[in-house]
Amino acid sequence: MSLILGLESSCDETAAALVDSERRILAHRVAGQEAEHQPYGGVVPEIAARAHVDRLAPIVEGVLADAGVTLAAVDAIAATAGPGLIGGVMVGLVTGKALAHAAGKPLIAVNHLEGHALSPRLADPSLAFPYLLLLVSGGHCQLLLVKGVGDYRRLATTIDDAAGEAFDKTAKLLGLGYPGGPAVERIARDGDPQAVALPRPLVGSAEPHFSFAGLKSAVARAAASGEHRVADLAASFQQAVVDCLVDRSRIALAACPDATAFVVAGGVAANGAIRAALTDLAARFDKAFVAPPLWLCTDNGAMIAWAGAERFAAGLTDPLDIAARPRWPL
Ligand code: KG4
Ligand code: ZN
Repeated sequence: MSLILGLESSCDETAAALVDSERRILAHRVAGQEAEHQPYGGVVPEIAARAHVDRLAPIVEGVLADAGVTLAAVDAIAATAGPGLIGGVMVGLVTGKALAHAAGKPLIAVNHLEGHALSPRLADPSLAFPYLLLLVSGGHCQLLLVKGVGDYRRLATTIDDAAGEAFDKTAKLLGLGYPGGPAVERIARDGDPQAVALPRPLVGSAEPHFSFAGLKSAVARAAASGEHRVADLAASFQQAVVDCLVDRSRIALAACPDATAFVVAGGVAANGAIRAALTDLAARFDKAFVAPPLWLCTDNGAMIAWAGAERFAAGLTDPLDIAARPRWPL
């Protein structure tokens, strides 16, 4: 049994968690930065980095206190080393290095995407490799065949915006504020998903890639026409995203008959309409559908600690001079 401390600071959540190799989450804390970024309608990288500086140390002390352990009880320290906003990533990685050095413990530099990709295995012990993963977050929209720890085959990615980015931009132009995804989902419940005719970019194409920029522009035009209720625009936009994700995932599922399950992860996986549609899709392919609980979908420290636990079990640790990487494809 090993105990891993995980640190996350790649975007606008400052988070830490203690997770062991038996999948026990001993403690986890997340602090968002809504109040700081709200006036700007989106994440301001410099403000985010400064907020991580202020919050990370108390959060680490907090999770150690919650679990009633000291650093001496930890076997390794995992920190997000990219991809993400470089200032924030550096805060978390440097903190991880300092703790590892001070406590004489190994450092594990975790790819944030690997954190999302492996998090479903923290929630579901029966989830076995290989599985087909739809990774939908603010920065990424990918279909990956997860073959093992550190072994990923990327089947598709977005040619422009990520799905979460489309939610955030749509929320901004509909005046729903930041963070956008939950706001769009909330108001969409009062809207008619068929009310506004919107495009489904790339639906029907043979390769399972994604595109959302045209959809966002179409929402902007429809909103500018003044003919539609905001709730109808939000519901129609969300339905268009659902249709794109389902169609693209369908192509990938057909190409991966050996996948043990169809899995969704990343912040957008917190969306109820998307989860429901993907559940139906998995059933059509006779695949188990796995989606982590909502708190594990959006950025958190437990997914980084768990990816650290998986890497530690595989003997993968990193030198203290490893660099932060703003871009880092899986
Ligand atoms: O994984 P995540 O927390 O951070 C990144 O790694 O990007 O994902 C954040 C993204 C944001 O774009 C946010 O708007 C979106 O996930 N999101 C949602 C929902 N909750 C969060 N999108 C749609 N519906 C939601 N309920
Ligand atoms: Zn993320």
